[in-house]
Amino acid sequence: MREELKHLLDNNRRWAAATNAREPGFFTRLAQQQSPRYMWIGCADSRVPANEITGLDPGEVFVHRNVANVVVHSDLNALSTIQFAVEHLKVEHIIVVGHYGCAGVRAAMRGLRVGLADNWLRHVHDVRLRHRKRIDHLPEPEQENILCEMNVIEQVGNVALSTVVQDAWARGQKVSVHGWVYGLSDGLLKDLQVTMDRPETVVQVFGAAIKRYPRQAGGEANGGTGNGAGDPSGDDVDDDVSGETTF
Ligand code: CO
Repeated sequence: MREELKHLLDNNRRWAAATNAREPGFFTRLAQQQSPRYMWIGCADSRVPANEITGLDPGEVFVHRNVANVVVHSDLNALSTIQFAVEHLKVEHIIVVGHYGCAGVRAAMRGLRVGLADNWLRHVHDVRLRHRKRIDHLPEPEQENILCEMNVIEQVGNVALSTVVQDAWARGQKVSVHGWVYGLSDGLLKDLQVTMDRPETVVQVFGAAIKRYPRQAGGEANGGTGNGAGDPSGDDVDDDVSGETTF
């Protein structure tokens, strides 16, 4: 077993030596303190490593990853990480990064059972249900991609509405929350234009982002300004984004 891991330790020795040769004192300096400007909240998928994708060195990005990059208000793991990042490290940017081809999103989209993780992926399934009028009319491969993006948008909203970020904004601390999606097939990040940087813009930014995904032709005209009260399909989970009903 140890033999199977030997190359990892060998790689590490070479990497540490090369890094120190390129930048003498790198590790000594980093051992004193970290002061990253960015926090990355991403999927645990092995193909989406935060540092490599963004060209950042150790010490430059604070990372939290889980299956399908979900931020839940009762998840003490994620919330504690966000709190440490915001209150102690004073990161300026929190970036939620989803990725196309996410197995977690696919399972939620198709209703596949994967085991214990079904309970976690229920949050992504809820995103799908909430916005199904904007998703279900699309061809199948596109549905998954759009759900990857919508899941990011929802999680950006969750981060922005967390007590940690709300308290930071109330203190006047500058911290922005962003949403990106990563393409496994081209290695490129896409900005989903859902940046939230103060409380009064959260609902508006969220609404504008979601409305970029049209409902099936004719649906959007009825849902623009109301709160869903006039929706004839009253038993649907409505994704009205006008304000009160969203948050
Ligand atoms: Co994933």
